[in-house]
Amino acid sequence: MGAGHGVFNFGPHKNGRHKVITVMCEKQFSIKSYVLRNGRITKAQQRSLDTLSGTYCIPFNDGPVDFGLVFNNSNPVTIEIGFGMGSATAEIASANPQKNYIGIEVFRAGIGRLLMEIDKRHLTNIRIVEYDVTAVLKKMIPDGSIAAFHIFFPDPWHKKRQNKRRLVRLPFTDVLVSKLRDGGYVYMVSDNEDYCNFALAELTSTRTLHNAYEKFAPRQDWRPPTKFEKKALASAKDVKELLFVKNWKAFYEPANGDDEE
Ligand SMILES: C[S@@+](CC[C@H](N)C(=O)[O-])C[C@H]1O[C@@H](n2cnc3c(N)ncnc32)[C@H](O)[C@@H]1O
Repeated sequence: MGAGHGVFNFGPHKNGRHKVITVMCEKQFSIKSYVLRNGRITKAQQRSLDTLSGTYCIPFNDGPVDFGLVFNNSNPVTIEIGFGMGSATAEIASANPQKNYIGIEVFRAGIGRLLMEIDKRHLTNIRIVEYDVTAVLKKMIPDGSIAAFHIFFPDPWHKKRQNKRRLVRLPFTDVLVSKLRDGGYVYMVSDNEDYCNFALAELTSTRTLHNAYEKFAPRQDWRPPTKFEKKALASAKDVKELLFVKNWKAFYEPANGDDEE
């Protein structure tokens, strides 16, 4: 396999139903990041994919996105990585019309589902990129342009030998930081205790990130539960949250220096 971004290796999973994808992301690191779920796409989801993608999906390409052009405003932009079926994404965007949201996902049924929801709620502040997040960040997102990253229930990769596939780890967290503006944050939620402890260590070791809480964050009450969270709660699993801010001082200090002597 050649170097460079976006080079995919499709190979049958041992049960024959899934395909494993290897992503070479520039030369810095490679992640076997996810297993493509062959979930059935309903007729309604397919219809949304056919009719709404042109309006709400940004095609993957090699150039930086001009958010002003895409959203027709200069509101802050939050990126949600791996939104799944997108129910929380739609709800958060609906509650915050003064902010813009970009959802990045590779699961087609989920993209179709979120498109339906965007249409139903007449949301103008969400766009979707259907592609691997590592390549999207590298190629399409300008440095210092993002207000927040939401990562809700990322694939946990339970087995020790699979831990390297976890997204919330260095050097990917360095990439997140490079895309954040000062005072921007990374917000991760998971029901996998081992992943939470692992991510806590990785985020703590990421330069310029500061934990907003001593260890884990309390539940952020503005966050609606996601589909995976509902499953976790149904099986009485503990859900943990992590909230890290880039250049913490910028989060607090008034931009115009009004309060300074
Ligand atoms: C466990 S699911 C959680 C979905 C949703 N956030 C929820 O809580 O219900 C993780 C999602 O992340 C997506 N994902 C994993 N790695 C990704 C990547 N590199 N780029 C884009 N999406 C990814 C998967 O397709 C999957 O839908």
